[in-house]
Amino acid sequence: MAQHNHAPSGHERIETNNFLMIVLITLVVAVGGLVEIVPLFFQHSTTKPIEGVKPYPALQLAGRDIYIREGCYVCHSQMVRPFHAETLRYGPYSVAGEFVYDHPFQWGSKRTGPDLARVGGRYSDEWHRVHLNNPRDLVPESNMPAYPWLERRTVDADALPGKMRALRTLGVPYTDEEIAKAAEEVKGKTELEALIAYLQGLGTARSWDKLAAQQSAQAPAAPSADAAPTAAQ
Ligand code: HEC
Repeated sequence: MAQHNHAPSGHERIETNNFLMIVLITLVVAVGGLVEIVPLFFQHSTTKPIEGVKPYPALQLAGRDIYIREGCYVCHSQMVRPFHAETLRYGPYSVAGEFVYDHPFQWGSKRTGPDLARVGGRYSDEWHRVHLNNPRDLVPESNMPAYPWLERRTVDADALPGKMRALRTLGVPYTDEEIAKAAEEVKGKTELEALIAYLQGLGTARSWDKLAAQQSAQAPAAPSADAAPTAAQ
């Protein structure tokens, strides 16, 4: 066996010195992290809304707050991951540009129920009304709670302009006119109507049809390799 009776040099010096090793690992991880993360703050694909994504209209914004208040995010994610099984079931995977006006994000972390990122337009308003009042009326084995009070309560219309102004400070481009009209628009609406309006708007800016249309506009002759087989439910 070779004996190390010379003074350690080069890499050997790093590997035999705890302190030096810790400092250098920290440096490498920090630089690696910054190189990956910092550009995301400046890339258009992560900071600009995709076509069709607009600030939530007043009623949807009110519905979104009810979604948060009722804890829907505890059982539902809003994030289609880029895996075949997910895109087959839910539609095109989610991209950052869909969430630029979401403060806070509703990506969620647990799926007791299905992902809701693309639920907009999947069911009728009436379906949602019955389902939210009592999920078991439509899906007998469902363990989703019933939310019968949503139909009986009206939206807090006067709170909306303040919320919209607060969102504006975070970069959501609401106009003065939109803020001025907000309370009027939602006055007298039930919480159920607001929540359904929110659900029906989810994820509709990005669909297989829209992607196929974009693709054929960009390259008319190319076969659309990405187009999905008609989306399975
Ligand atoms: C305890 C977990 C739980 C909570 C909390 C919950 N859900 Fe669900 N949700 C489920 C389950 C499980 C399903 C699937 C069965 C069904 O359709 O009822 C579901 C289904 C759904 C669906 C149909 C999705 C689809 O693609 O078929 C919608 C829409 C929905 N939930 C909305 C909501 C909303 C809005 C809230 C909050 C007001 C909420 N859920 C709260 C568990 C939950």
